[in-house]
Amino acid sequence: MQSNSRYDPAEDTFFLADHIQDEKGKAALEVGTGSGYLAKILEKNFDLVVATDIDYNTISRQGSKIQNGVCCVGADALGAQFDFIVCNLPYLPSDDVVDRTVDGGREGLEIPIPIIKSAKYRLKPGGKMLYLTSSLANYTKLMRETELLGFDVRVLAKKKLFFEELILVEAKLFS
Ligand SMILES: C[S@@+](CC[C@H](N)C(=O)[O-])C[C@H]1O[C@@H](n2cnc3c(N)ncnc32)[C@H](O)[C@@H]1O
Repeated sequence: MQSNSRYDPAEDTFFLADHIQDEKGKAALEVGTGSGYLAKILEKNFDLVVATDIDYNTISRQGSKIQNGVCCVGADALGAQFDFIVCNLPYLPSDDVVDRTVDGGREGLEIPIPIIKSAKYRLKPGGKMLYLTSSLANYTKLMRETELLGFDVRVLAKKKLFFEELILVEAKLFS
């Protein structure tokens, strides 16, 4: 069973928001936009912002609409190339994907890895992706998998919460 609940901005959203405020360029993509909170920040500094979400209701009912919302898996429906991509991944380890806003499947990797792969093909050579994961997920494996896709990968920042540590990963695509 899969739910259609929307993910309202939370501590992880705000942590990521702090790290995208100063990003600038021509085209940016947010994958898994939820409320559109992060996409709205990007709209201040990029000429074109596209935001995707797998959940149609999420895309169609956003309060303050983002300019270009697309309902699709990862970035699969897009053909454009972007300078910058951001994604607050559904990273919680789970046996099944019951809540698509947070469940990441086995080790918190099953959902994130295909999303990162999909996003990779939409990133310009030399472009940058920031994604959020957690100490609850097998984040070292996720970073290794990202490296194998041709990215230069590092932990950009961490934030301790009560029950987990948020891990912000920067992945740059070799040009
Ligand atoms: C943790 S929430 C983040 C929402 C928002 N970006 C934020 O930071 O508040 C993850 C979002 O990704 C979406 N999502 C889950 N799997 C997806 C996929 N395979 N492709 C695109 N979006 C997906 C969910 O519907 C949800 O809105």
